[in-house]
Amino acid sequence: MTNSRISGFYKMPIIERQQQLAKAAGLDLLSLAQLSQTGGIDLTCADLMIENVVATYSLPFAVALNFKMNGQDVLVPMVIEEPSVVAAASHAALLARHLGGFECSSESSWMIAQVELQRVPNIELAIQTLTQHTQDILALSKKAQPGLVQRGGGAKDIEFRVIAQDRLVVHVFVDCCDAMGANAVNTVAEAIGPYLAHLIGAQLGLRILSNLCDRRRAFACCQIPVATLAIDQPDCVMSGEEVRDRMIEAYRFAMLDPYRAVTHNKGIMNGIDAVAMATAQDWRGIEAGAHAYAARHGRYLPLSCFSQGENGQLMASIEIPLAVGTVGGSVGVHAGAQKALSILGSPSARVLAEIMAACGLASNIAALRALATEGIQRGHMNLHERRFHESQDATLDLHQALS
Ligand code: MEV
Repeated sequence: MTNSRISGFYKMPIIERQQQLAKAAGLDLLSLAQLSQTGGIDLTCADLMIENVVATYSLPFAVALNFKMNGQDVLVPMVIEEPSVVAAASHAALLARHLGGFECSSESSWMIAQVELQRVPNIELAIQTLTQHTQDILALSKKAQPGLVQRGGGAKDIEFRVIAQDRLVVHVFVDCCDAMGANAVNTVAEAIGPYLAHLIGAQLGLRILSNLCDRRRAFACCQIPVATLAIDQPDCVMSGEEVRDRMIEAYRFAMLDPYRAVTHNKGIMNGIDAVAMATAQDWRGIEAGAHAYAARHGRYLPLSCFSQGENGQLMASIEIPLAVGTVGGSVGVHAGAQKALSILGSPSARVLAEIMAACGLASNIAALRALATEGIQRGHMNLHERRFHESQDATLDLHQALS
């Protein structure tokens, strides 16, 4: 059983952190230490992944502590260049831990294959014809991805959407199991496109997945005891109740103003993208889906929600579409991503999405608490100061070594 509380972790030298992490997550220390040599891929591997490669490029790999999700401790791997994000998520996870941590859930891994049909002669008749052929369409879709069907996934359902007088979009919902599924879904869309166009005498348009995977949502919520929110700094003293109320007001600000909502959601994506990077996910797709979902009611809104609970505690929750995979794609070739998944206990794609939702919510809670109290700059400045002193020390060491 992983223990996500490792006291004094941030103060330890890196080698000791590696030892502690290896022990807590049951990992091989050597392979963890080796990760820092290559950053997860070597040049040969990089050259096979994309075109015109000239080098590889590294980022810091850290773990966020204190997370408990659905009653289990989880160490959360995060890859990010921005200071404070890991510490902030760990701190919010500690606050949530007092009342059991995060409760998480998720929907099945349904992605949407879109087939666009243009110049449809008669929309009503077309929908009638396509509805009559639902089973044939599903069968053809399944035939295009037999491996997925064998694993219990594949095409599950269809819907039709009229987007203009003579334009129709057919959505095929494909359960991608533990894969992110972009390739599988695109294959399905391309396999069925000509058949659909032929059935209704339309012109075939685009055939591609939608990144707005609103049937693949993850949910997380937590409660924070009001007393733990209190601030007692020389220049900022606030009761827990005051902090809670100000955090709820900050959420209301995001509800009322899209300019604020986007920054509120950026704070959520700090946590989500960092886990996405660590586990080699398609973070562009995740970002596109998250922001489209935030605007689903015709207005850009926060992805999380804050309120006061019956006992005065702060209640926080999030719902977000998350297309992530634990098999296939870059996950299988990147040693860093494999290590990140081992740290997480080799989760299914759904559990990974739940972990990401919880980490996003934790980042958001930490940001709102800082913003509602002493401001965000204090934490940042502390880090800048630490960096400045460390770089001064390093320069001094270098000069001494050279003289
Ligand atoms: C900075 O990376 C994230 C914040 O701007 C989020 C927020 O404003 O809620 C602090």
